[in-house]
Amino acid sequence: MRSSLFFLAALCLESIAALPQKASSNPISSTQHAKVDTRANTYQDHAEAALDRLQQWYNHDTGLWKSYNPSWWQSANALTTLVDMVQTGSPKAKKVADTVIPNTFQAAGAFNVREGHRLKRAAAAAAEDNKVEEKKNPYSNGYYDDMGWWAMAWIKAYDVTGNKTYLATAEALFADMTTGWGTNCSAGGMWWDKKHTHIDPIADTLFLEVAAWLANRVPADKKSHYADWAVRAWDGFRRSPMYVSGEGEHYVTAGISVKTCRLGKNPHGYTYSNGALVSGLVALSIATGNRDYLQEAHLIAHTIMKIMSKDGVLREPNIDQAHPGQAAPQFKGVFMRGLMRLHAADPRPEYRDFAQRCADSIWDKNRQGDAELGPDWNGPFHGPANASPHSSAMDGIVAAWRMTK
Ligand SMILES: *[C@@H]1O[C@H](CO)[C@@H](O)[C@H](O)[C@H]1NC(C)=O
Ligand SMILES: *[C@@H]1O[C@H](CO)[C@@H](O)[C@H](O)[C@H]1NC(C)=O
Repeated sequence: MRSSLFFLAALCLESIAALPQKASSNPISSTQHAKVDTRANTYQDHAEAALDRLQQWYNHDTGLWKSYNPSWWQSANALTTLVDMVQTGSPKAKKVADTVIPNTFQAAGAFNVREGHRLKRAAAAAAEDNKVEEKKNPYSNGYYDDMGWWAMAWIKAYDVTGNKTYLATAEALFADMTTGWGTNCSAGGMWWDKKHTHIDPIADTLFLEVAAWLANRVPADKKSHYADWAVRAWDGFRRSPMYVSGEGEHYVTAGISVKTCRLGKNPHGYTYSNGALVSGLVALSIATGNRDYLQEAHLIAHTIMKIMSKDGVLREPNIDQAHPGQAAPQFKGVFMRGLMRLHAADPRPEYRDFAQRCADSIWDKNRQGDAELGPDWNGPFHGPANASPHSSAMDGIVAAWRMTK
């Protein structure tokens, strides 16, 4: 068992050690203000160098970034990272986004429809996943979490462009997601897939997040529709075995068995469903004016920083760091985005310190060449390098940049 006292001590040592090191490289750090600006500039430089590398993996024809084939939901995350950079004030990201947002909207949607047809020819069973949805929305498929990632990406695209086509796309995705509500383990709660094979908290937390974010963007007459869904999603989820609260720890565990409706043998959970939940609760607090949701987000953030980190740097628990597979390399960035949004709503110095420790470790210990970033933020770098671990690590740097601005 992890000792939280030891962790706290390590955390303090880490942050104290990090300060003079950064300040000494800055000759004009005589005031707190200048010091903060310089750090923000450094993170911006790192994020922009990493963006150059990210775009080398961008395929203009498919609108997707090269990672693990078909790089579908990962590309939604890469697009979200890009938009976060635009919002943090990167002129370089703005220039890239001006082309990439409309191109991805057109090309990735077409890819998904095409992919559906390809699967149809290859295997009738797999085709079921895509058959109905392609007509409704080019971003739909058989997986509620995939639709959630793309809904979030298009909400973000709407935020930086003001283009209502993207908001409408997110709303249509959410409408499709509501068909996943109601498992045979509870009246509420989301299925992970349209075939009803699996129940996983990432589908629930993204469902809540998308609903709450939409509630804060749609016209007044539609707001309660989304806010009500978000409240319903949270009320169901917090009572399920997939959410642990009590004894000072609040966090999302892993999925539950469809057969038993109980947690499996290894219920540790992952950083990303916690990140989606933090972001969703922040948005729900804004939508409803109820700060209880914000307090819950703080409790989750503190738990994750404690139980899913090593040397004060975010780390995926129970993952073989050398062979993280094809999903986990994307996860940590999602948590950092959630933390960044929580910090924007209700800043806490420990979040900024945590983000800086992650960003510094990513750059110093988890980088190959100029700006190629790997999956293990504690380092050392290991490949294969691709847009998934890379964009996830960028989220860590962007979070530090945003919080030091
Ligand atoms: C909004 O986005 C869509 C999809 O990228 C694009 O076709 C359309 O031209 C955009 N509208 C405006 C006003 O920019
Ligand atoms: C829930 O439904 C699935 C089929 O969709 C079935 O295999 C499973 O046994 C059911 N679980 C319970 C607890 O009834």
